[in-house]
Amino acid sequence: MNENQVRDDMVRLSKSLYDRGFSVGSAGNVSVAVHDGLLITPTNSCLGFLDAARITKIGTDGRHLSGDKPSKEIFLHRAFYETRPQTGAVVHLHSTYATALSCMGDIDVDDCIPPLTPYVVMRVGAVRLVPYVRPGDEKAGELIRDLGGKYAAVLLANHGPVVTGKDITAAVYAAEELEETARLLVILRSAKSQLLTADQVKELKTVFGSY
Ligand code: 13P
Repeated sequence: MNENQVRDDMVRLSKSLYDRGFSVGSAGNVSVAVHDGLLITPTNSCLGFLDAARITKIGTDGRHLSGDKPSKEIFLHRAFYETRPQTGAVVHLHSTYATALSCMGDIDVDDCIPPLTPYVVMRVGAVRLVPYVRPGDEKAGELIRDLGGKYAAVLLANHGPVVTGKDITAAVYAAEELEETARLLVILRSAKSQLLTADQVKELKTVFGSY
């Protein structure tokens, strides 16, 4: 896929997230790795109205090559590419239910999305809660690096999800799956829900691969 096609995919899939309420206002940012660096949505841009030509390009050395000023969460995105070589794209959202979970005081920090359904196991894997830092704080990158590439997705405490994938389609699908599972978890919070068993999770990982 050439760079123009990647830019077009970023515009198309970001708009799809915006149109269905997964992001509002100028919340959220999306990046995709290209052979000579990465493309990332500009700061304060709305995912529903991106302009392919103004998407920011950052070189492999971190220099701003073209486009508007990058998202303030560039540190977060770069930390995923640096620690997980299989990462082709990163999606950060403030989607309602995943963000609701990120604000709860009693979730399992190492595994905040329990295996409620097969697709969250297949598309997202274990999700780690990362301690709160203010949006755009370079420390977010250090916190992700400290995870050593173990997690494909995290929840930033009191802020929202960050989800990666081998390409932008996989990252967007996984972000949607995470949000919908978070919604189920919130709906089921007062019910005694049945999780997948360890054997069922193992079978999914064997058949579909693990994240
Ligand atoms: P940017 O507009 O800089 O991408 O920041 C939006 C956001 O979601 C902060 O977490």
